[in-house]
Amino acid sequence: MTTAQPSHTTHTVGRTRVLTGAKPTADLHVGNYFGALKPAIAASQDTSNEVILMCVDWHGLTNRAKILEPGKQTLGCIATYLTLGFSLENSLCILQSEIPQIQEIAWYLSCVSAVGLLERAHAFKDAVAHGKEATAALFNYPVLMAADIVTFDAQVVPVGKDQAQHLEYASDMVGLFNNAVGHPVFFEPKAQIQSTPLLIGTDGERKMSKSYGNHLPLFAPKKEIEKRCKEIKTDSKGLDDPKDPETCVVFQILKAFASQEAIAYMEERLRRGTGYGYGHAKKDLIDEHERVFGSKRELYEHYINNPREVAKLLTPSHERALKIAATVRQRVRDALGLGIL
Ligand code: TRP
Repeated sequence: MTTAQPSHTTHTVGRTRVLTGAKPTADLHVGNYFGALKPAIAASQDTSNEVILMCVDWHGLTNRAKILEPGKQTLGCIATYLTLGFSLENSLCILQSEIPQIQEIAWYLSCVSAVGLLERAHAFKDAVAHGKEATAALFNYPVLMAADIVTFDAQVVPVGKDQAQHLEYASDMVGLFNNAVGHPVFFEPKAQIQSTPLLIGTDGERKMSKSYGNHLPLFAPKKEIEKRCKEIKTDSKGLDDPKDPETCVVFQILKAFASQEAIAYMEERLRRGTGYGYGHAKKDLIDEHERVFGSKRELYEHYINNPREVAKLLTPSHERALKIAATVRQRVRDALGLGIL
């Protein structure tokens, strides 16, 4: 359903409002860097966008058994983005639970969302199919996500393929709401489905994931990084054999974060073979990891040990985000005829 866009907007002329949601996860790894952090950080530095990176801590609470987790993970998540260069000059980094208007707007969206639609959402359906307890919060997850998007008049929302359904739902809700009210109140967001290939884990078998234990951390102690790199699975080619970079897990992991020079160097040495074994490749991987991430370990730890300083860094972002959210909230309330003044 496509509708016209609202005439009053909160956008800055000439800049596209891009919203990305990050689940509150500390201990992010090279796979997360490649898939989510790197693109978001690059976008934050591009002045033709106004990126809002939102750590979605409310979305983390949908599992009763893990209700205390998100609170513990938020600082590490935000510290990682800031350490790696997310631009607070140019873009906003905010915490979802600091913006109460999102909850109010989620309510309005829930008023146009059919139960049948939400029952078909993948996450809810999977939980039910596996006999897991599905909370009302899990059921409402897509509504809250749509509220995240429309509360900030987001125009573009970059997400992985697994989030395509949620973005369709958000568009549906916008269409239903605007139609019910009779004029465009919410912007219809455009999904930008990322096609980043999955990064292989150190076991060389499955995608890199903390839950498989095959991940290469970003800011763990150097000893642990060395150990994990040395564990990477390789084939039995000898020191002087030519090796195929495409099937070499060490090279695939390097490619996810290294400089062009480091990538070109390893690729050439592997193909040539002579005097360059997997041990050498692993050493080069460790060195490059140390250069890119290890050199920022101290800054990361500084943030972790100084949460107040991090909160202060985010203050201008929260102030601007609250202004945008207040404007949009008022627009919706006016459209609904709520309030007596
Ligand atoms: N559901 C998204 C995920 O699991 C996270 C998310 C929440 C999000 N709110 C969002 C992503 C708004 C983009 C926009 O990755």
